[in-house]
Amino acid sequence: PVLVVDFGAQYAQLIARRVREAKVYSEIVPHTFSAEQMLAKDPVAIILSGGPSSVYEEGAPFVDPAIFTAGVPVLGICYGFQAMARALGGDVARTGLREYGGTAIDVCESGVLLSGSPQTQKAWMSHGDSVQRAPEGFTVLATSLGAPVAAFEDTDRRLFGVQWHPEVRHSAHGQAVLERFLYDGAGLAPDWTPGNVIADQVEAIRAQVGDARVICGLSGGVDSSVAAALVQRAVGDQLTCVFVDHGLLRSGEAEQVEEEFVASTGVNLVVVDAQQRFLDALAGVSDPETKRKIIGREFIRVFEQAARDIVAAAGAHQEEVKFLVQGTLYPDVVESGGGEGAANIKSHHNVGGLPDDLAFDLVEPLRTLFKDEVRAVGLELGVPEGIVWRQPFPGPGLGIRIVGEVTKERLDTLRAADLIAREELTKAGLDREIWQCPVVLLADVRSVGVQGDGRTYGHPIVLRPVSSEDAMTADWTRVPYEVLADISTRITNEVADVNRVVLDVTSKPPGTIEWE
Ligand code: XMP
Repeated sequence: PVLVVDFGAQYAQLIARRVREAKVYSEIVPHTFSAEQMLAKDPVAIILSGGPSSVYEEGAPFVDPAIFTAGVPVLGICYGFQAMARALGGDVARTGLREYGGTAIDVCESGVLLSGSPQTQKAWMSHGDSVQRAPEGFTVLATSLGAPVAAFEDTDRRLFGVQWHPEVRHSAHGQAVLERFLYDGAGLAPDWTPGNVIADQVEAIRAQVGDARVICGLSGGVDSSVAAALVQRAVGDQLTCVFVDHGLLRSGEAEQVEEEFVASTGVNLVVVDAQQRFLDALAGVSDPETKRKIIGREFIRVFEQAARDIVAAAGAHQEEVKFLVQGTLYPDVVESGGGEGAANIKSHHNVGGLPDDLAFDLVEPLRTLFKDEVRAVGLELGVPEGIVWRQPFPGPGLGIRIVGEVTKERLDTLRAADLIAREELTKAGLDREIWQCPVVLLADVRSVGVQGDGRTYGHPIVLRPVSSEDAMTADWTRVPYEVLADISTRITNEVADVNRVVLDVTSKPPGTIEWE
């Protein structure tokens, strides 16, 4: 891999993604790794990321100079650039001139790193210290007002550096800098493609699983679906998928899993119809957190029983059912401990907390992938587009989109309204712009209306379209009025019991995305 050394800023993940966009595989390692540990990973190149620190600060992250003499091409970025300059005998100083944000760069010599780059360009800077003099053997490639040495390279030793952040989109030619380093500086080929990812994972899954049997909980979401499809590709009928139909899904979603997904991937699927069980368990409950707990608890019980049934069906070979597939993604791995060894793995939303007597080893074929890569792999595997591009949907489903008690009738009402909203938003081409659009039934609220000649006393439906990067923060999406008008007209005409449609215009914070 290309190793991206994380100096503690938020940039390491971004760099890793950009390297992969250049079709070269990358992994993040913490800066506390010794040179020996890094080299043990057989890196084809190393990128030192930016960081918050000054090289002069006490406790500033240390760069082991041994990585510069190991023959591995290295690119230093921002803090990594300064640390490299310092370690190799250059001068780094506080100039008093800080540069933040879009900054003009003058290219004085294009070299390898900046070949094809324009003479002057805007690049994203964030530094106080700057490199005053490059180490011996280096050619200075660029300068800026606050950085006499803003980029350098030593092609003999294959060492490169830039003061700015090529990984952020605000750096107009940033991706080109990374590509010049990877392709020309380090001589790497752009061959990390979804097809190769699949081939590698198939091999790894086969090696891990052997002849044993594997089970997987399908939720209908993209992660569990792509993970299952990969395992299916690797070990075929050794895999059994379990889909718990809790009756809280949106219109068409259960069918999509049961029919389209099975048809396109050929997985063995066990569908457990637990709709009545969930309705019974939820009867009389209005409190959101209690609903969540009940749904989570019932889910585990049903899944556990299905797993036991599969084990029992395997008869004398039951000890061989020993693997559980999880759709853990790379950001979870990085955030929960740097992806090294037995990092504590975030439990899957829907299958979290399986009982101890069902001790499975985990198969996590998406552990090295970012979400967009999971989608690319899914498409390559033939997973239906409707699943691959599915917007986020909470595990407790419509159960937390009915404000009030959950009943069969209310679920049907909400499903009908939700389907109309989805159809119209899709028709308007807004699916990618909208992160997700909860449709909420205010079951405990009634308002007076008039329809035909009669007075109505029905429930409101809330539309909650939001735009977001990661669901941590969100803004309400400015859906065109005409689209809102179409949704409103159709819902009030077509859905019995609903006589009002309202729009939620609250960002997050202070609102959350879901109403419960
Ligand atoms: P909130 O409402 O907290 O939602 O702004 C943030 C994101 O998480 C989803 N969500 C859930 N997902 N179980 C889940 O699996 C839950 O209990 C749950 N609650 C919220 C929500 O849809 C949004 O994408």
